[in-house]
Parts: sequence; structure tokens; C-alpha cells
Amino acid sequence: MTIQQRSAICSNAFLAHHPAITEPPRHNRILSNRGFSSRYKAPYTAIRNSPSAHTNRQEIIPMPRHVLAICGSLRAQSINRTLLLAAQKCGQAHGLEIHLYDGLGNLPIFNPDNEETPPKSVLDFRAKLAQSDAVLIASPEYAHGVTGAIKNALDWVVASGEFMQMPVAAINASGRATIAQAALIETIRTMDANIIEQACLTIALNGKNYSAEDILNDPETVGLLDQSLGVLKNVIGFSHQKRGIA
Ligand SMILES: Cc1cc2nc3c(=O)[nH]c(=O)nc-3n(C[C@H](O)[C@H](O)[C@H](O)COP(=O)(O)O)c2cc1C
Repeated sequence: MTIQQRSAICSNAFLAHHPAITEPPRHNRILSNRGFSSRYKAPYTAIRNSPSAHTNRQEIIPMPRHVLAICGSLRAQSINRTLLLAAQKCGQAHGLEIHLYDGLGNLPIFNPDNEETPPKSVLDFRAKLAQSDAVLIASPEYAHGVTGAIKNALDWVVASGEFMQMPVAAINASGRATIAQAALIETIRTMDANIIEQACLTIALNGKNYSAEDILNDPETVGLLDQSLGVLKNVIGFSHQKRGIA
């Protein structure tokens, strides 16, 4: 087994007593400032040896996978956001750390003139994407289209390339909103992202005022989320392997 093929191997005890040791970057994708090209650096060595000959035991510690969750609704009580919060909980069982992106409303209206010198909010959004292993989107349908908020956010990263080959799952919180879900997937596919169809799903919450706890108490919904996130996790692992990332 080569170094690149291994998962992070370390000693629990060593890490516990050496908090100064920093984690390697989550992945080494270097994004070009512009254009559809991205490059990959050689993978980091994700091995830490035990500090003493007496504690030579090594264990495989799975690295958490980082998923950026984007809600296409800015509504405070958004059911799509609530569904992502439920997914955040379900993801823990799969070793997925799902981070909810909360800056969608701060992104200015996309203007190609500002693409190369965008404001800080856009740079933050791009950086968060670049640090993620996958993206999970839940967005409502507005007048048979995607919401302006999600489309605007995606437009800011069409040319900068953060979505290139990014595993993406779209979850739809409404059984009625089929047109926007298809349009969203089409846009993401056009951006050269890796849409994981088996991880895309519709959970017909249909605007009901559920809390994340209500969703998590429904075994059928949890089963669907679980299946979707399991597929996403496997795809992340596979694409890391291909890119030589532990
Ligand atoms: C401006 C507007 C347009 C809408 N158009 C549609 C539509 O075309 N099809 C649909 O199924 N629902 C439509 N809806 C309903 C929303 O998709 C639904 O209320 C959804 O739950 C909102 O998502 P959120 O709770 O995450 O904000 C529309 C709602 C708004 C505010």
C-alpha cells in the first residue's frame, strides 16, 4: 500500500498530547483565478508516526469529509434550510461534516465586469467551496424556475471553476417543484460539476412548517437522507482516491 492510498494513520494518544500539530489541508485543489482549469498538487503525506518505540501501534482514522450545504431560500423559516439542518445531523454517521453556507444573501448581483476582482463576500464563497469535498443544495422553486439567490451565487462561480468536478447532490423539499430541480441540475451540470444523481432526491415536505427534529423523527425521511448521504460519501472517497488524496 502506498502512502497516497492510505487513510490518515496516526496514534490517537499522540494527537491528543500534541495539539500543536495541524491538520493538512483538506484537499490540495488549486484553483486558477479564471477559466475552467484547475490543477492538483501532489497529495500530502497523511501519516503520523507514534512518537515512541513503546507506542508503535497505528490506527486508521478516517478523515472527515467536508460538505458545503447551500440553501437557495433566504427565508428565515425556510423548509429547505431545515432539511439541510436535518441532513447535517444525518451526515455525522457517514463522517460528513456538513457546513451550512449562510452568505447567499450577501452576494451582490452578479456582474461579469467584477468577476476577476470580486468583493470579499464572493471571495469567501469561493474559498468555502474550494475547501469542500462536496456540495449539497436544497432550493425552492419560484415561478417554475430556480430562485434568483441560488442562480446568482452559481453565476459567481461559473468561470472561477470551484464547481469543476465537484460532487454535487441536490435535494428537493417539495413534491411539486420538479421544474426548478431539473433546471438547477442542468445549470450545475453545465458548470462541469459532478452531479451525483443517486444522491439527488425529493422529499415531499411541501412547505409544511416542520422543524429539523420533526424531520429526524420520521424514519422514512431519515432513510432517504441517509441513503443520499451514503452515496455522496462514497463518491467523495472515490474521487479522492483518483486524485491521490487521503
Ligand atoms: C415567489 C414565489 C414563487 C413560487 N413559485 C412556485 C412554483 O412555481 N412552484 C412551486 O411548486 N412552488 C412555488 N412557490 C412555493 C415555494 O416553492 C414553497 O413555498 C417553498 O416551500 C419555499 O421554500 P422555503 O420554505 O425553503 O423558503 C413559490 C413561492 C414564492 C415565494
